[in-house]
Amino acid sequence: MSVRIIVAKDYDEMSRKAANIIASQIIMKPDSVLGLATGSTPIGTYKELVKKYENKELDFSEITTVNLDEYKGLSREHDQSYYYFMHDNLFDHVNLRKDASFLPDGTKADSEKECAEYEAKVASLGYADLQLLGIGRNGHIGFNEPGDVFVKDTHVVDLTESTIDANKRFFASADDVPKQALSMGIGTIMHAKTVLLLASGKDKAEAIKNSFFGPVTPQCQGSILQFHSNVIVVCDEDAYSLVK
Ligand code: F6R
Repeated sequence: MSVRIIVAKDYDEMSRKAANIIASQIIMKPDSVLGLATGSTPIGTYKELVKKYENKELDFSEITTVNLDEYKGLSREHDQSYYYFMHDNLFDHVNLRKDASFLPDGTKADSEKECAEYEAKVASLGYADLQLLGIGRNGHIGFNEPGDVFVKDTHVVDLTESTIDANKRFFASADDVPKQALSMGIGTIMHAKTVLLLASGKDKAEAIKNSFFGPVTPQCQGSILQFHSNVIVVCDEDAYSLVK
């Protein structure tokens, strides 16, 4: 097991450090498969990566990306779909090839089939060289929610009340938040050669403490990362504040 924890002063410093780690991955292996995340946490990191690209420090032309998850039922044009988010925050601003970015498709009628095909796609790419993760207030990674088991492969997930509540800020009301998502499984994530988990703010402090300083349990899905051989956590002081 190897978990390195880097504590940054605040969100901006966390974002700069995370972007530097991703940048060195791209420099060392220009044809890397990057596993990407959505949500508020990585937005600053993506901004920093775009800046590095504009400054000609980074070249994405040989990079392939795979995303963790997508809401079920949202079209790719919906401004809350993760497809839209990734284009808006990163893909449209760097020189990624158009056919080199993959997300599960939440609009397919047969979601189980879509999940199996997505898992096969990620596997055929050799899984992520570096997987970027945020973490839910309840310790979820991807949309692997607290439960009795760790689900291995990409699967359809019923989102918990806590996750729907956390995400309702992006929708007109809680009723508009999709109730299901397609998410990489814990096995898919654990195949990544390096995991880079980011966390910012006091409401992530419990999740950081439970994931890295508590028992490994599916009640806190992030805790499985203690069994990964190469995890880097970059969190800010607030997110680290419950660690003694
Ligand atoms: C996003 C994802 C989620 C988020 C988590 C934290 O693709 O899989 O696990 O990383 O919900 O979200 P934020 O960053 O909005 O607090």
